[in-house]
Amino acid sequence: MRIKNICCIGAGYVGGPTMAVIAQKCPEINVTVVDINENRIAAWNDEDVNNIPIYEPGLSNIVGEARGRNLFFSTDVDAAIDNADMIFISVNTPTKTYGIGKGMAADLKFIELCARQIARVATTDKIVVEKSTLPVRTAEALRNILDDTGNGVKYQILSNPEFLAEGTAVDDLMDPDRVLIGGDMDTSEGAEAVEALVNVYAHWIDRERILRTNVWSSELSKLTANAFLAQRVSSINSLSELCEKTGADVNEVAKAVGMDSRIGPKFLQSSVGFGGSCFQKDILNLVYIAKSYGLHEVADYWEQVIIMNDHQKRRFAANIVKTLFNTVSGKKITVLGWAFKKDTNDTRESAAIYVVDYLLNEQAEVVVYDPKVTAEQIYNDLEYLGNRSDGHNRSKVSVVGSAEQACIDSHAVAVLTEWDEFKDLDWSSIYQNMLKPAFLFDGRRLLDKEEKVKLGFNFYAIGS
Ligand code: UDX
Ligand code: ADP
Repeated sequence: MRIKNICCIGAGYVGGPTMAVIAQKCPEINVTVVDINENRIAAWNDEDVNNIPIYEPGLSNIVGEARGRNLFFSTDVDAAIDNADMIFISVNTPTKTYGIGKGMAADLKFIELCARQIARVATTDKIVVEKSTLPVRTAEALRNILDDTGNGVKYQILSNPEFLAEGTAVDDLMDPDRVLIGGDMDTSEGAEAVEALVNVYAHWIDRERILRTNVWSSELSKLTANAFLAQRVSSINSLSELCEKTGADVNEVAKAVGMDSRIGPKFLQSSVGFGGSCFQKDILNLVYIAKSYGLHEVADYWEQVIIMNDHQKRRFAANIVKTLFNTVSGKKITVLGWAFKKDTNDTRESAAIYVVDYLLNEQAEVVVYDPKVTAEQIYNDLEYLGNRSDGHNRSKVSVVGSAEQACIDSHAVAVLTEWDEFKDLDWSSIYQNMLKPAFLFDGRRLLDKEEKVKLGFNFYAIGS
């Protein structure tokens, strides 16, 4: 089966970059990315390709090359569904904020709405691909909705989880460690659908790196991969606190441990805590699923990864308060970096949100600078926590356009995102312009300690 038309529902961090790369690599396939968010689609269609709504190194060039040729962005969801042989579902699956499973289970209402829309609109057979990260056995729910319409349209459901990391999305898509495709391998139609998707990826990826599994293995592998990665960060972060007490240095420990080829060096960078849309959500999902099967020890084991992460964010903020003579009330604290990691404008679950929330509870005045995050996003993130009014947040938090400006007259600076530009700031002049004693808290182990101490800073870095 040759795929000629692809539709992707959801033009977000996953759908946008993934479809751009598929379109670039498969010029004979028409790819239409649809979204109900009109502003988002308008931004993807902006004449100036630098204004696309997602910042990813290399992405605007790819969109520039393929857009209008075989890559289209549209709000006409129905037309794109009906026209497609293959439909990717890349909508958001946030953690539920209400009812059963509140705070843990994934909210599948957006996925279900997509399935119902496909069922209502489709007049020809479709391969439906789960791209969003989903709880195990979501494909079963999709199948139930799609198969019960009685209009004779046949569906194959595949799971093809995305492993791209933000900031390196284009590289991850161009040269992935593996591509995972789960399908109904027991039937010839299922196997044929899997092969159709394999053939899409085989345009640029070696076939040995394209794995075929059953649907449930594919769904669970995605959750497992994220849980393992998050667990490594929580493991090293738990040791950062022990390092601070014992005189060990977490970077030295991480290096020594990571040189064991069985352990490996990646994902051992101690930090103020992991963020991003996936890690916490996926672990909560895993915990919820384990609990729902009565596997309480399994659930508790994975939940501890999140407990540790919350602790890390809280203790970083608490340490700022303690170091500043047990009060930050009325003091100006500068926060450098709001994104959950460098090279992205995504702020979902960013540690900065929680650190600043803590400082605001302690009545600090906060000044934020991030090279890619807008002021509105920062206020939205704080408001989403619901801990105080938007008016209060806006009066206590100011967002400025440069790091140097943000640091003027502040009591303390906290580095919360590892943006490269923070390494090269004129720290000597920043020091001159701060109140004394000047405190510098490095939540990312980004800055050279000796140099900063020499300049006069009271310097604290996580894990040393
Ligand atoms: C992650 C997975 O890496 C990706 O495969 C999956 O598809 C989606 O979730 P992402 O959330 O974009 O990607 O970012 P990632 O690079 O994994 O970082 C997640 C968080 O962990 C960030 O806040 C990062 O700063 C933090 N982190 C990562 C550390 O604190 N230390 C590390 O050593 C690595
Ligand atoms: P992700 O990181 O998973 O890509 P995003 O929130 O960035 O998540 O993107 C998901 C996108 O899916 C949003 O732009 C949202 O508007 C879109 N979306 C959600 N539900 C639907 C739907 N039923 N039809 C079309 N688009 C949808």
